[in-house]
Amino acid sequence: MNKIVIHGGNPLNGTVQVSGAKNSALPLLCATLLTGGDHHLSNIPQLRDIRTVFELLKTLGAEVDCSGDSAVINADRVESIEAPYDLVKTMRASVLVLGPLLARYGHARVSLPGGCAIGARPIDLHLKGLAAMGAEISLDHGYVEARVERLKGATIYFDMPTVGGTENLMMAATLAEGTTVLENAACEPEIIDLATALNGMGAQISGAGTDTITIEGVDALRPMNHRVMADRIEAGTFMVAAAMTRGNVLVKDADPVCLEAVISKLREAGAQVDLCEDGIRVKGAEEILPIQIKTSPHPGFPTDMQAQFMAMLTLANGTSVIAENVFENRFMHVCELQRLGSNIRIDGKQALVEGVDMLLGAPVMATDLRASASLVLAGLAADNTTEVSRIYHLDRGYERLEEKLLALGADIQRVAI
Ligand code: EPU
Repeated sequence: MNKIVIHGGNPLNGTVQVSGAKNSALPLLCATLLTGGDHHLSNIPQLRDIRTVFELLKTLGAEVDCSGDSAVINADRVESIEAPYDLVKTMRASVLVLGPLLARYGHARVSLPGGCAIGARPIDLHLKGLAAMGAEISLDHGYVEARVERLKGATIYFDMPTVGGTENLMMAATLAEGTTVLENAACEPEIIDLATALNGMGAQISGAGTDTITIEGVDALRPMNHRVMADRIEAGTFMVAAAMTRGNVLVKDADPVCLEAVISKLREAGAQVDLCEDGIRVKGAEEILPIQIKTSPHPGFPTDMQAQFMAMLTLANGTSVIAENVFENRFMHVCELQRLGSNIRIDGKQALVEGVDMLLGAPVMATDLRASASLVLAGLAADNTTEVSRIYHLDRGYERLEEKLLALGADIQRVAI
């Protein structure tokens, strides 16, 4: 077990390189199950969740050959169609093998993920969509079992935009017979990245990035050769870190098109945000201004940036209001931020964050991935020493976070406990 120890107070300065996007790499790796041959993927972040999906692919019978940030995956010989509980419980994105396995083999068994720290997170919309495409779905000993001879194109309306649901059905529909239309689909940039890779494999997908995606099924696909997009949430996390430590950081490869809401809210909070040729530069202002944030599906403000903004707003000059509209339980970081002296009140879906003059370091505990990031950010800006434990959450989604922050001038280290 490790913890992160931070002596706060240093402004961050310099340049930081953004890694490949976890939430894009995960569905892309699952998409390799759609066909045999050697799939080539690059810019894969080295993270715990990525190692879990490699494990899952190997369990199913695929060959995985990684070198640095690249991997060659070969799913010629898939021997199992079952995503076991042990892997799904550690990473919910494992359910993304359901669509590809069902489309290629007509049969898949995937452990039902259950709830998690940020909410119930059901997969009913994934299953409803596959059923509309002709799959017979049953629940057996905690496993979802899906069977079909060949999926058939259908028009599927999502009751709410779901990132994973859109990805699962988009992958499934590539090999279905006929045309599938996904309505009220998620518009996240990771959906566009997946559709681009699938089209490179010979799929016929149009409309990705809008709320209506059309997929003309094809009979066969070829392996992909794809570079994973840059991680917009990692980029946003460094942008907030720069703003809240009153630093000056160039976040290299941060894509402003994917970060419009984040950029706009940082500017509203007083930070200077400049769009550069090779990334985004953020300069923190002396005074952080209070703002209102409402999380919603893309292009709205991302729920995955809510906790980091809350950390920054604990030091604002006034009261901010943050509404979490995507997940029902994503305020777990509040109690820990309070341990550092912040003044936050939760009222249903809203958090009222009354800015304080300073945070004071303390031992805190990470509860989920983005909550951990918010605690690290708070530690960077707090006086004295902050110790963040349970950082295995952080390692699921941030590649070498402490090394990158150290290079920007933070006093931070990982310590074995
Ligand atoms: N939902 C349902 N039924 C479904 C699917 C979703 O009710 O069948 C609900 C969820 O409970 C939630 C909302 O719809 O309230 C949105 O969930 P969505 O399906 O979009 O989330 P996801 O695909 O499970 C991905 C990211 C999350 C990110 C959300 C929202 C990956 C691997 N995960 O999750 O990332 O918060 O989209 O943008 O892409 C993270 O990286 O820290 C993280 C949690």
